[in-house]
Amino acid sequence: MITETNATPPYRLDLSKHARQPLLEGPTPIQPLPRLSRECGGVNLYVKREDLNGLGGGGNKLRKLEFLVGEALAMGADTIITVGARQSNHARLTAAAAARLGLQCELVLTRAVPREDSEYLENGNILLDDLLGARVHDLPGTANALAFAEARADELRSQGRKVYVCPLGGSSPVGCLGYAACAAEIMTQAHAQGIRFSRIVVPNGSGGMHAGLAAGFAALGLDPAIVLAYTVYSKAGQAHATTLDKARDTLALIDPARRIADHAIAIDETQLGEGYGIPTDAMREAVRLMASKEGLLLDPVYSGKAFAGLVQAARSGQHAPGENVLFIMSGGLPGLFAYRSAF
Ligand SMILES: Cc1ncc(COP(=O)(O)O)c(C=O)c1O
Repeated sequence: MITETNATPPYRLDLSKHARQPLLEGPTPIQPLPRLSRECGGVNLYVKREDLNGLGGGGNKLRKLEFLVGEALAMGADTIITVGARQSNHARLTAAAAARLGLQCELVLTRAVPREDSEYLENGNILLDDLLGARVHDLPGTANALAFAEARADELRSQGRKVYVCPLGGSSPVGCLGYAACAAEIMTQAHAQGIRFSRIVVPNGSGGMHAGLAAGFAALGLDPAIVLAYTVYSKAGQAHATTLDKARDTLALIDPARRIADHAIAIDETQLGEGYGIPTDAMREAVRLMASKEGLLLDPVYSGKAFAGLVQAARSGQHAPGENVLFIMSGGLPGLFAYRSAF
């Protein structure tokens, strides 16, 4: 349960000492899912529509990019390089932010996901990367993308360019500040709508969204264990270690006096399946369920797997009827077109 023992409205975090480039339209709405709630034993399901931020097709990475691009501009950068898998949503949104701001963008994308069909290789995010004007470096799955990105940055610097290298998923502590701010936004909205959430459910890829939310709740004096993440990238132990480190480093940027306990980072591995980017039957069912019952579109790699976990938890009685559970709907819709053959 979110308890308000130490934190009372207004829920504000002072992030003003960090450079921030506005990329969002304002708070994203929290909406009920009435038809799915009935299907899920009367658990009150809600979504926070992070997919509704408009730039470049939208998604959770825009919150991180506000701080990352802010830092890049403060350093005088004219070029941004980032890394990811071939269908990275983060890469697509980095390209969109760069386009908006007149920066050059290079994407170092690996074939880390074992899919060779033309939809995966040429449609979805990779089509949009091209339209957004990014230069794509196509690397094999075994390549070290970050090392390649650093070497490419050095090459461009030797030509006089000012290059900012953005980590996997945008999940540096500075990037995670975007989701710390989102924790305060959720609390403000929940208070205004008169809802107390017992759980906030997220996908965990590079861990930045989870870490940022955890840091934000801790900075507000609330318990970060309210957030439950379904890992879609690493095994639970690795995801826990990475997310805890990032959450602590992010919190140190906001309020070094606060702490996050090991057990406050909750990770569930049940939806990972055979690995990152590999579809599961539960994901397929969850994507169809959300689309056919609520008219909302999840993605096959992140939100589809996490929502599958929430549906299973609700159906199996892990949440009581009448309990309020918030799902962070993180975007990634272009991925559906890349995974045409999976449906
Ligand atoms: C649509 C979508 N949802 C969730 C995530 C996971 O966020 P994070 O990498 O911060 O864990 C990503 C990351 O790429 C994403 O693209």
